[in-house]
Amino acid sequence: METIDLRSDTVTQPTDAMREAMLRAPVGDDVYGEDPTVNALQERLAGELGFAAALFVPTGTQSNLIGLMAHCERGDEYIVGADAHTYRFEGGGAAVLGSIQPQPIPQDADGSLPLDKVEAAIKPVDPHFARSRLLALENTWHGRTLEFGYMAKARELATRRGLGLHLDGARLYNAAIAYGRPAREVAAGFDSVSVCLSKGLGAPVGSVLLGSSPFIERARRWKKVTGGGWRQAGMLAAAAMHALDHHVERLADDHARASRLAEGLRRIDGLNVTACHTNMVFLDAPAARLKDLAAHMTKAGVRLSIGYLPSIRLVTHLDIDDAAVEKTIAAFSSFSF
Ligand SMILES: Cc1ncc(COP(=O)(O)O)c(C=O)c1O
Repeated sequence: METIDLRSDTVTQPTDAMREAMLRAPVGDDVYGEDPTVNALQERLAGELGFAAALFVPTGTQSNLIGLMAHCERGDEYIVGADAHTYRFEGGGAAVLGSIQPQPIPQDADGSLPLDKVEAAIKPVDPHFARSRLLALENTWHGRTLEFGYMAKARELATRRGLGLHLDGARLYNAAIAYGRPAREVAAGFDSVSVCLSKGLGAPVGSVLLGSSPFIERARRWKKVTGGGWRQAGMLAAAAMHALDHHVERLADDHARASRLAEGLRRIDGLNVTACHTNMVFLDAPAARLKDLAAHMTKAGVRLSIGYLPSIRLVTHLDIDDAAVEKTIAAFSSFSF
């Protein structure tokens, strides 16, 4: 029985065409700035997303971390959502490795940080306090897109109060497809953006940090310091290029399948279903039934994130087709909650 893996969009297998592209890639030593495929990827994304410079790194976690470290110094503070990935799911790296104090703010249901709360959290310039330097947003957050009007107001606040503005855009292209607007518009207004190629876009490895040239130079140093100085990384950049060429428009299929999944699951008694704008569906089920549900789904060949986040999470991606969606709905339907 083939397993249907809905835990995350990070579980995809590189396609045959992607593997071919990786094999053919010209490579060089990226620490010397000599990998032609890495350089081409960086130039391409900087140009497409409207930034002066870009840096290809192994993970979204490293991209966010070195971005924060390039914005903030020891004793500075970044303001971040209490449920944002950089704060909750990256091992506290900003504090641990960057000596940057996080100031978490509870988020609204769409993932936005209420801007009056952000403004109230900015510290006075006084030796008693950490120096508030940066506001970090996430789009998409739990599959939800931020409103353009909100992002414009966040930019206005950051400029007025002298904060930098960073976006964890791990799923920036999912957001762009959901809005029906170019990814460049989703990234506009931010001082730095981190984009992942290894999520919905289906590359095996890699994220890109974007910003001004001096910012990226600072980040390049932190990349090396944190052990991210890789060498012939062009094979991975080739996978990323292939993903950008072939896997962006098709994200609409993942979003449609997530909607179909939500629609099918809504008909099941005992499940409370929250569909998002993109490729994620969240479910609440009676807590006392979760263990049995997990066993039932494993037996049915469906893997889910249960118990890791507050709800059950299902994520559609490159390796989930229509039949997998229908089988998943059928597996849930045959369980009594
Ligand atoms: C929103 C968000 N940001 C950052 C990351 C970190 O990416 P990585 O797993 O490549 O470190 C993830 C990973 O799932 C994510 O969902």
